[in-house]
Amino acid sequence: MYDDPSGISQGFLPDQGPRQDLSQITPSAFKMMSGISSIPSIYNRTSRSLLSLTQRRLVSPINASSLSPSRLAFSHSQYRTNMSGSAAFFEAVRNRRSVYTITSETTIPDEKIQEIITEAVKHAPSSFNSQSSRAVLLLGAEHKKLWEITLNVLKGIVPAEQLPATEGRIQGFANGHGTVLFFEDETAVTELQTKFPLYQDRFPQWSQHASGILQYIVWTALEAEGLGASLQHYNPLITPQVLSTWDLPSSWTLVAQLVFGKPSAPAGEKTFQPIEGVRFKTFGKQ
Ligand SMILES: Cc1cc2nc3c(=O)[nH]c(=O)nc-3n(C[C@H](O)[C@H](O)[C@H](O)COP(=O)(O)O)c2cc1C
Repeated sequence: MYDDPSGISQGFLPDQGPRQDLSQITPSAFKMMSGISSIPSIYNRTSRSLLSLTQRRLVSPINASSLSPSRLAFSHSQYRTNMSGSAAFFEAVRNRRSVYTITSETTIPDEKIQEIITEAVKHAPSSFNSQSSRAVLLLGAEHKKLWEITLNVLKGIVPAEQLPATEGRIQGFANGHGTVLFFEDETAVTELQTKFPLYQDRFPQWSQHASGILQYIVWTALEAEGLGASLQHYNPLITPQVLSTWDLPSSWTLVAQLVFGKPSAPAGEKTFQPIEGVRFKTFGKQ
């Protein structure tokens, strides 16, 4: 059980299976499967030529007219990164926390929340650019409905003595402003599996990775706007009712629920395990 007084939080830490050897996927396979034609040329460069490319950008301005749209987009992002560094990004990374005490108020208009999710869905990476992730934003009465559904499902399972704690926890989520539901479209996964059987065992795992990245972007962006959020996993228990209530395709698998609102208490204290040499190692530093 995982920070879940209800005791019903199964499925949020999937078996990761054996380690995958990414090196088996060649640039040409990637190009064929993703439809991104500019990637192989980047992947094919030796590290030396990549370095010289970066150095050229640092010393000479980009000649936009000489680049194709996709190369231009790549160059612009590289250029911006070199100019601004990662400080603003890491401020958002540090500030993102699990915030459980939230109200129905919001710090930004609902349109801005929609914009954040739209941008995140659009720009989050996915394996072979399969774009398998889906998101649903529930606000107001629809948000409350989700937590009613969840409580009703849990009532049929949770032992009587644990029910008050479960009710309290679910009420805490219902008190929020909204919930983002994250799904993966299994159609995208099976299409890739059928087309490229050599990698079929990898696609389900990569699909979950893609969802995790999307969840993280939305979570971090909402908190950067002053909202507080926590990530919940009442799937698969609530999945059938979620799909039927909001008339969603049966090929969508519910992966996570990000519940958010205006924080009325700060996140709890967080402890950190040692990083240097334990959780992070460096070899060959110059
Ligand atoms: C993959 C994943 C699954 C998680 N599942 C849950 C969950 O089911 N319920 C919950 O309350 N928090 C969940 N969390 C939040 C973690 O408990 C939390 O991120 C961690 O304790 C660190 O705290 P922080 O988010 O404040 O940095 C999950 C986080 C991740 C990354």
